[in-house]
Amino acid sequence: MESGPFSLTAEVKCVPGEQTPDQQVFLLLDCTSVTDLSSGCDFCAVRLSFDTREVRVESQKRNATTQTLFAQPGCALLRPQSYVTVLVEFHGETMNLSLSGVSVALNLPLNRSRSGETTNVGIAVYGKSRCYVRRFRLAALPKDAVPEVEQSTCCVRVVPGPESAVGTTASEEMDLAVTIERDIVCQDLKVRFEDIGGLEDAKRAINEAVILPLLMPEFFVGLRKPWKGVLLFGPPGTGKTMLAKAVASCTENITFFNCSSATLTSKWRGESEKLLRALFQTARARVPSILFFDEIDSLLSQRGGAAEHEASRRFKSEFLIHMDGLLSETGDQQGHLFVLATSNAPWDLDEALRRRLEKRIYIPLPEEAARVRMLEHFLKDIVLAEDVDLPLVASQLERYSGADVQLVCREASMSPMRRLVDGLTPAELVQLRSEGVWVCRDGCVQPSVSHNDTRRYVEWQKEFGSQ
Ligand SMILES: Nc1ncnc2c1ncn2[C@@H]1O[C@H](COP(=O)(O)OP(=O)(O)OP(=O)(O)O)[C@@H](O)[C@H]1O
Ligand SMILES: [Mg+2]
Repeated sequence: MESGPFSLTAEVKCVPGEQTPDQQVFLLLDCTSVTDLSSGCDFCAVRLSFDTREVRVESQKRNATTQTLFAQPGCALLRPQSYVTVLVEFHGETMNLSLSGVSVALNLPLNRSRSGETTNVGIAVYGKSRCYVRRFRLAALPKDAVPEVEQSTCCVRVVPGPESAVGTTASEEMDLAVTIERDIVCQDLKVRFEDIGGLEDAKRAINEAVILPLLMPEFFVGLRKPWKGVLLFGPPGTGKTMLAKAVASCTENITFFNCSSATLTSKWRGESEKLLRALFQTARARVPSILFFDEIDSLLSQRGGAAEHEASRRFKSEFLIHMDGLLSETGDQQGHLFVLATSNAPWDLDEALRRRLEKRIYIPLPEEAARVRMLEHFLKDIVLAEDVDLPLVASQLERYSGADVQLVCREASMSPMRRLVDGLTPAELVQLRSEGVWVCRDGCVQPSVSHNDTRRYVEWQKEFGSQ
């Protein structure tokens, strides 16, 4: 690494080694030898002890003892078996350190002047600890980059969000970051695009608006800069949540924050805006990332209603401020941050939010061909009677949503049992298992979306939706 300020970002996780409890990782920022960290070597490193939950910054000059420049014990973000995102901005004489978007140390004096010689930067483990690293990124900072605050001593502080009025203490911020990592960051939602029947136009629009910008950010710059907010709207049960979750599963590299209104409101009543702010902060630290808000109308309905609670109004304002922060960001070479939201009552959304969710994709009731594919998909493990004509069944299911079609299939798969089970002996019941079932629209499941509802979505789509 050439001399000069740089930033190092890495997601690291540590697990105990065989027969040793050690879980220690070093982020080497300036090191003249990589063979070992013995007294002969000259280094500066961030030491993360996942076993004792301590963060330290250490410096050692050749033939001198190791100096601890900074130590923070009881760091809740260091949890065995969990990834933590570390960001270091190394200026040679001072450094900034943050963990999962929470600023831990700012302007920490290091008393090291880099002589210009090439030194090593990287990750090392202690003893038999085992470390997993993903998304390692090293980037030069502008030569004239100066630390954010002129200060001669190190401080532990929380970086304020954009124009936010919410005050949060460092330990609160750390707790929130832990909650986010534990409850909201999703690894695998197990929904694939192949599982979703039909909706070809919506899949194409999502691919262009969300997936491609994440996979090839360099192409989506300038006029082609990606949409920062994408809304999927349409009648209930049409696959909006499924589509959003499928996005999470199709690219490995992104962090998907599943922010359901239940997590954001019930558990954190009164604290929601703090959690929201921490969410955006963490998402920024882990780009490329998607913040997914399911049923966003329940979180951000129109402001100013008589029954509106003060906390809810504050939450909405905080959300809009963060969305503005996203929209005003110019090109982001490091990766993108999106808000992806779903709603089945888009007309209830706050107008200011509607404007910020720039791309609005209509997820309609499935067409006949899509209904055939859904029937095939839902009934793939069921033995059907020979005269079952799925296209004919699909043609009878007009106005049925995906969820309704699934319900029809469930009801139908139960029907032979209903007809035959009455009064049978256990032996006769066993005999039933080899018989097929047949599907019909026998009237026991009605469509859940009325003509009027559909008309309302189409009208909203004409007025505010994207093509
Ligand atoms: N296009 C589809 N392909 C396959 N299954 C579907 C489809 N649409 C809906 N389903 C079925 O319906 C269920 C509900 O879908 P989902 O939760 O995505 O609906 P939604 O549009 O988010 O509804 P809501 O607006 O009520 O939240 C899914 O679990 C799935 O089984
Ligand atoms: Mg849903």
